[in-house]
Amino acid sequence: MTKILPNCPFSIIGNPNAAIAAPYGAEQAAVLSAEGLQRARREITTWPGYQLTPLVKMPGVARAAKVDSLYYKDESGRFGLGSFKPLGGAYAVFHVIEKEIRRTIGKEVTSIDLLDGKHRDVVAGVTICAATDGNHGRSVAWGSRMFGCRCVIYINEAVSEGRERAIASYGAEVRRAPGSFDDAVRMASKTSAIKGWHVVPDTAAGGNAEASGNVMQGYALLADEVVSQLPADRPASHLFVQAGVGGLAAAVCGQFWQAYDETRPITVMVEPHNAACWFESLKAAEPVVVAGEMDTLMAGLACGEPSPLAWPIMKTGAHAAMTIPDAAAAETMRLLAAGGNGDQPIVGGESGVAGLAGFLLASQDAEARALLGLDETSRVVVIGSEGDTDAEAYNTIVGRSGDVVRASATQGNWS
Ligand SMILES: Cc1ncc(COP(=O)(O)O)c(C=O)c1O
Repeated sequence: MTKILPNCPFSIIGNPNAAIAAPYGAEQAAVLSAEGLQRARREITTWPGYQLTPLVKMPGVARAAKVDSLYYKDESGRFGLGSFKPLGGAYAVFHVIEKEIRRTIGKEVTSIDLLDGKHRDVVAGVTICAATDGNHGRSVAWGSRMFGCRCVIYINEAVSEGRERAIASYGAEVRRAPGSFDDAVRMASKTSAIKGWHVVPDTAAGGNAEASGNVMQGYALLADEVVSQLPADRPASHLFVQAGVGGLAAAVCGQFWQAYDETRPITVMVEPHNAACWFESLKAAEPVVVAGEMDTLMAGLACGEPSPLAWPIMKTGAHAAMTIPDAAAAETMRLLAAGGNGDQPIVGGESGVAGLAGFLLASQDAEARALLGLDETSRVVVIGSEGDTDAEAYNTIVGRSGDVVRASATQGNWS
């Protein structure tokens, strides 16, 4: 078999506890529910700039990977922030403010009320705090500015200056914390407790399970969009989704599970080799914390601790887990940027393409194909969770800027 991604060793395991034909249960619904989605949809779709992000069909890569079809949910244009993250972080900011207004003056508010400037004095007294490896902080900072509250963001040493500048451009105060992403999460939680700030973590390990639940519920909107965008008579058979703390994976898996019940797609979690906490957790059938440098190009996935809120969904929702090398992400970014054979060029960032990279690696390996039941009839969905959120890194890896790639996509001569 000719390899689409040569020389990229990967690991894959089946989840021994995968729910094969089980319905979505009460344990999962306690985290993500139909009512929760309805609420998220009602708020988020009223924010300025809301649009369905594209579900791009990639017939050229599907042919090369010997599957029926491949769909790439391209989150690079979401609210102009470059990733899916505003769906979660900014939605959780809304809930903090909404609760604060209810607590102080006993009023129910919507996003529209806040955008209209109602209760500005209460909102201005709220300080939101979050830890981030880039995209979550940007989303929380953006949401805080949109609703009019103060925002403090902790980043760890490895976060690039480009990402730091992007967060600061939304008016947040950015502070560097020593150590890893998980250390920054602890610092944000501790400082917020002392100062009376509202911590909005993207992991329930971050000290505010309610906020991280809202983050995940906001993400679920993107999966709901995918369900509405896929042909109704040809649902997905496979989902490849990248994981950091697992919030995105749980949101997409949980939403597909509710939409399709026991016919939900085979779900594969994809992580970098060096930050594989979900791979280890599914293998051990309990949450496992992975230590070490977590040195990876896929900055958004450099997390060593599964989110305790994602666990009840993914412990049985995931059918398999993969770990991939940085080279696979870089190769996939270049492949997406090139387009051709009927595929439009797409700008996908380091973490954003990891699910697609995992799929490509599995598709070219006979054992992985057999394990996942991938064949010529498979209809695969991958979540393109970011674009060129770090423009410099993108340029270095792809050899062209995101703007040049976007321009080539609109010229339409790639087919
Ligand atoms: C671009 C991108 N993709 C995927 C993820 C993973 O999301 P989660 O940490 O919820 O698993 C992140 C997290 O920051 C991210 O920034």
